[in-house]
Amino acid sequence: MSEREPIGVVGAGWVGLVTAACFAELGHRVVVREIVPEKVESLRRGEIPIHEPGLPELIKKNAERLTFTTDMAELLDGPRLLFVCVQTPPTYSGDADLSAVQRAVGEIGEPDGKALVMKSTVPVGTGRTIHRDAPELAYVACPEFLKEGTAVKDFLEPDRVVVGFDQGDEWAADAVAAAYEPLGAPIVRTDLSSAEMIKLASNAYLATKISFINEIANVCDEVGADVTEVARGMGMDPRIGDRFLNAGLGFGGSCFPKDTQALKILAGNSGYHFQLLNSVIEVNELQKRRVMAKLSKHLDSLVGKRVALLGLAFKPDTDDMREASSLVLASRLEGEGATVVAFDPVAEERARQLLPSVEMAGSAMETLEAADAAVLVTEWPEFAELDWTEVAKAMNNPLLVDGRNFLDPDAVRAAGMTYEAIGRPGLADRSAVS
Ligand code: UGA
Repeated sequence: MSEREPIGVVGAGWVGLVTAACFAELGHRVVVREIVPEKVESLRRGEIPIHEPGLPELIKKNAERLTFTTDMAELLDGPRLLFVCVQTPPTYSGDADLSAVQRAVGEIGEPDGKALVMKSTVPVGTGRTIHRDAPELAYVACPEFLKEGTAVKDFLEPDRVVVGFDQGDEWAADAVAAAYEPLGAPIVRTDLSSAEMIKLASNAYLATKISFINEIANVCDEVGADVTEVARGMGMDPRIGDRFLNAGLGFGGSCFPKDTQALKILAGNSGYHFQLLNSVIEVNELQKRRVMAKLSKHLDSLVGKRVALLGLAFKPDTDDMREASSLVLASRLEGEGATVVAFDPVAEERARQLLPSVEMAGSAMETLEAADAAVLVTEWPEFAELDWTEVAKAMNNPLLVDGRNFLDPDAVRAAGMTYEAIGRPGLADRSAVS
């Protein structure tokens, strides 16, 4: 392998660590600068602070090429390309909080012959503002399209790599493109602001697709169609595509809720009222609560009832609980007087802090023991392996709402459970016929 360009990464969060480990895997020496000393200490010991499949292995395998430091000077000493991977959480106004970005930019300063490569999701226009204030530092917008749970694969097998830059920074854009070149993906070379908008628009579009199919599911509930069949039939049209058409309890996580809101606010701040995104956000909020009506169909009241939640993370293969549908659902259930008991294979620790009143069980079976109802909130593969005959016996009332349309309805029902899903009302009749 020919000598590859050294790389600097600012921030050892989820994006920073995945970026660093994957570039190390591609043969680059990578220096990661993180401000929290304890985090650096544990990374040096080989302990990875987040749950991301494949990441610990990759960091271990490439340990020789990875350096972790708290010292910005160490980062500025070597690499030309400085990938900024810090968080941009929402503020109370819904704008993106750019304080971590500004801090990183301030610390980097304007060193000669270096480029700031922005991975963090920022409002459109941020790059040009930073560049105007530090014209000597080249600036490239290279947004990430990683999904939690498959981030390593998404990095190493990208659909596209977006490289945004303005006139004068061609050398930096070429260097970034060269770093990604071995991955063989199309490189979208474009201007800075368009690159920033590609990121926000992609997330907002995917969120729109989810809210759209959730509304179709809600109509299916009323008119007797099965949304999974509808999505299958729609998805075969290549103009639509079959991905991100799974109806359920709505989208969560650190990106879709934040980025749809940020794009809406960005548009509003610029004088444009983004109507469609308002609906996408509202539909998602309501979708997290739809389970309540499904439970009420079967239970007169939730007061004193024990409701089991299967899964708490915002999606499988992560311990991330940010904006998880489970947070809203657990609060609604408790608000109606229910006792909530939950099990999640990896998010338990985070969940204990966020949901202190929820009883945490040690296994799925333990959660379901003596429950009056269960809701499948996160589609962890192990829930598909449950013995539903045993579950039906263990529950006080064998009622399950499958909030992700994840299980085989006929099998679950044949085991003696009352099964409800999202947008699949016809299933009861179908299983009665077969
Ligand atoms: C999302 C995007 O998919 C990534 O491309 C992007 O890089 C990332 O945000 C980011 O901006 O950092 P992520 O939030 O990790 O990735 O998770 P997704 O797999 O996109 O799922 C988001 C939410 O949508 C989850 O709550 C999931 O359950 C829900 N979802 C997803 C559905 O309800 N239905 C679907 O069909 C797909």
